[in-house]
Amino acid sequence: MADLIKKAAEDLAAAKMVIALTGAGASVESEIPPFRGKGGLWEKFDPMEVAHIDSFLRDPAKVWNLLIKDMKDLLDRAQPNDCHKGLAKLEELGKMQTVITQNIDGLHQLAGNTDVIEFHGTFAWQRCMDCNTHIETRRVDMIEIPPRCHCGGILRPNAVFFGEMIPQQALWRSRQAAIDCDLMLVIGTSAVVQPAALMPVVAKESGSKIIEINPESTPLTGNISDYLIKGPAGATMNAIVAQLEKMI
Ligand code: OAD
Repeated sequence: MADLIKKAAEDLAAAKMVIALTGAGASVESEIPPFRGKGGLWEKFDPMEVAHIDSFLRDPAKVWNLLIKDMKDLLDRAQPNDCHKGLAKLEELGKMQTVITQNIDGLHQLAGNTDVIEFHGTFAWQRCMDCNTHIETRRVDMIEIPPRCHCGGILRPNAVFFGEMIPQQALWRSRQAAIDCDLMLVIGTSAVVQPAALMPVVAKESGSKIIEINPESTPLTGNISDYLIKGPAGATMNAIVAQLEKMI
């Protein structure tokens, strides 16, 4: 483990363009549960029932009551953890260009990263299904479920449901960053949801080094990633940043 931390710091020091791809595991230490695995959201809910666009269109009140209301409470309270802070520190050190995140919690921006691609959109805003007005989630009146816009239209998170397209700009920019980078940190993602999981493959095919940080192995491990640092994101990032700071 110590060897891999040192190796990661060396690889960061040598790299010219570093990017990160993060998933739910990056926010677990901010008390936001992941989707898959033990304690994951999809243990409690069938994603096709609560997170598919067809379910939302069929019964928006049900999806708001089962999923979105609780998510709002969780995200309202969540604060960046050592993983988010570590990635922001890397940017400060000139060693992190772009964070591509599958998370919709806004914690990378709150920690200080300035170029964050929100691959699955954001929960910080809701948008009206009728007039497309965008309203900050913290300003949404939750008395009526589903909450409505002043025009009477139903509000939905400005995030991607299953069955929807990835925002085109996010997809295009992520693909380009994956092509351009020479080191990608892949942190806290099970790497099973496409097309996000394809980004490390694109990076690898373009000659980039791939370092995974995750307590579990993934379909990328030993295949696309050069090595896996097996551990929680926060402590691992702390160790890597401390090592890197000794080197540069
Ligand atoms: P998952 O819930 O599928 O995977 C979370 C990953 O985080 C797993 O590989 C865990 O081993 C790892 N993990 C858990 N605790 C960790 C910790 N403390 N530090 C680091 N890693 C940890 O989450 P995602 O891969 O992000 O999409 O899921 C991808 C997409 O599936 C989500 O964006 C969401 C979901 O359905 C949509 O809603 C469209």
